[in-house]
Amino acid sequence: MTTLITNIALLAGCRETTELLRGTALAELPSIDHAFLLIEDGMIASYGHMYELELLVPQLPKHVIDAHQQYVLPAWCDSHTHLVFAKSREEEFIDKLKGATYAEIAAKGGGILNSAKKLNDATEDQLFNDAWKRLEELTRLGTGAIEIKSGYGLTLESELKMLRVIKKLKERSPLSIRSTFLGAHTFPAEYKEDNAGYIQLIIDKMLPAIAAEKLADYIDVFCETGFFSPAEMETICKAGLQYGLKPKLHVNQLNSIGGIEAGIGLNAISMDHLETMTGEDIRLISASGSIGTLLPTAAFFLRMPFQPARQLIDAGAAIALASDFNPGSSPSGNMNLVVALSCIQMKMLPEEAINAATINGAFAMELEKTTGSISVGKKANLIFTKPIPSIAYLPYAFGSNLIDKVMIEGEFRV
Ligand code: NIG
Ligand code: FE
Repeated sequence: MTTLITNIALLAGCRETTELLRGTALAELPSIDHAFLLIEDGMIASYGHMYELELLVPQLPKHVIDAHQQYVLPAWCDSHTHLVFAKSREEEFIDKLKGATYAEIAAKGGGILNSAKKLNDATEDQLFNDAWKRLEELTRLGTGAIEIKSGYGLTLESELKMLRVIKKLKERSPLSIRSTFLGAHTFPAEYKEDNAGYIQLIIDKMLPAIAAEKLADYIDVFCETGFFSPAEMETICKAGLQYGLKPKLHVNQLNSIGGIEAGIGLNAISMDHLETMTGEDIRLISASGSIGTLLPTAAFFLRMPFQPARQLIDAGAAIALASDFNPGSSPSGNMNLVVALSCIQMKMLPEEAINAATINGAFAMELEKTTGSISVGKKANLIFTKPIPSIAYLPYAFGSNLIDKVMIEGEFRV
């Protein structure tokens, strides 16, 4: 089917070539005002100024949608989530509000192990149905591509269960979905005194089973004091690479312990979180080929310092923005809030934030050839806004729902 969209007030993120944006290039959001967009079989076929329409689309299709001066931009590309989980954890949230420390919550069986216990008891169908509802909500909020991690299983069976749920989501959802194996999220209680034994389980049992069923695209490790050391991360990622799983890593959330250096050595696609960065960490990641993925809603929810976005951009880093949607540290997958927080709290410019949440997010999932910008040949994954006066109004008017409609592969889903 061919669809023509006319009278777009601003078509944002139009790119003839697709490049990872770093440093000053992040501030350029190529846009066309008074635009049209032509979609053929779910893909972007042409776009331009309204005055070029007759020339570029001599034969108008039957199906024409008048955008009535709405803004249109690429759907969000959320490159870091833990979307599959069994239960929310608001009881921990209340405990924390009352003053409980992370250690006290962990001692009561809270945190990642709490989610793992609940996931163990859940069926694959339950997990799928709940994740599907979350995915529908995120689609309404403008997300068109998403990465989803395992990591609340922590046993062979439960990690496979999580990854099979993600596989089913991939098969049934129109969204572009990437799957990441995060068996190394924390050490299960029974391996508390035998960390090496759990790493062996990941390498000897989990990875071969995951590879046999083709359940993951990437491998992730939570590199943090009290969790996995940089050396352990290297061991696990090298084993993953044997099966073609490239690293996308949790580093520098709470401490700077050498995760950045190790991640660069592993040619990580992305290194994510980055709340706690030394000057050297900033210099190293900025000079590397890895994308730094900032997760401001996690910093917000945990009352951590926000990521040093300005310093990273000024040092020439390629940065992406993602939601980290998970029940412990970011119980929201709202990319509009992520974009707003990155401007309000990290002083990113609206154009930088939108680029980081679209094209660079697509790069952080290796989906840049199919999504993340308005480009001929890419999927028509689009956000149509309510009437807004400018692109800067999106992060400025944070908290308002400014999305009117969302199109995925050429069809309105919302
Ligand atoms: O990305 N930091 C590690 N993992 C998650 C949170 C895990 C949880 O508390 O459930 C994160 O923030
Ligand atoms: Fe995370």
